[in-house]
Amino acid sequence: MQLELRIKRFNPEAGTEPWWDEFTVEVEPNDRLLDALHEVKWHQDGTLALRRSCAHGICGSDAMLINGQNALACKVMAKDVEPRATIEPIRGLPVLKDLIVDMEPFFEGYKRMLPWLINDEQPPDDQERLQTPEDRHRYDDTTKCILCAACTTSCPIFWGDEEYVGPAAIVNAHRFIYDSRDQGAPERLKILADRTGVFRCRTTFNCTEACPRGIKVTKAIQDVKRSILFERY
Ligand code: SF4
Ligand code: F3S
Ligand code: FES
Repeated sequence: MQLELRIKRFNPEAGTEPWWDEFTVEVEPNDRLLDALHEVKWHQDGTLALRRSCAHGICGSDAMLINGQNALACKVMAKDVEPRATIEPIRGLPVLKDLIVDMEPFFEGYKRMLPWLINDEQPPDDQERLQTPEDRHRYDDTTKCILCAACTTSCPIFWGDEEYVGPAAIVNAHRFIYDSRDQGAPERLKILADRTGVFRCRTTFNCTEACPRGIKVTKAIQDVKRSILFERY
């Protein structure tokens, strides 16, 4: 089958304004949109710039705006978007070239969450730090994040306010705040209580709809808001 691709292009060396290009590619119905983009890049226009790595929904590098919704190009099937797909870079981050954005501001927010286990005590008898299945379940959902930025770049608050850490950072803070082995929750909650943190969220739910891992992002944000308000985690 044929698939038309309308792709938003930008090249800082060619000018300051973006433009649109159209391509027609031959694909199988079960091919992914990433296959169609490869077809363009490898056989029609080698200058097309995009990020991808695993092609299996794991590395999180090919989030883009596909027919108006953030998604991973390697998870969208050609048959689900035919006869045409409009593809743009994710919003709210500076575009470097074509579909590639500068992820630095996104990762800055992530790093502010201290996304590692904080615990200065020695584990008992130099063994693993044990926890119950119930304790593990508290943060199970937020361990699934692949840092693709689909959530943060679908959030209207993030588009309008570069200071908001955004939902992905909060998801990754959540993963440690509710981990019974971690002792850094007070520090993370303090960071998230400031003006760049969770209270910027207006419960728009775009983030939850955009997440390719099915993480209940808005619920995770609500958990953190409650922990700050009731000083309980
Ligand atoms: Fe991507 Fe979901 Fe993680 Fe957001 S929470 S960065 S959408 S995997
Ligand atoms: Fe934005 Fe998600 Fe909140 S889209 S406003 S972070 S619920
Ligand atoms: Fe790795 Fe799509 S290429 S998630």
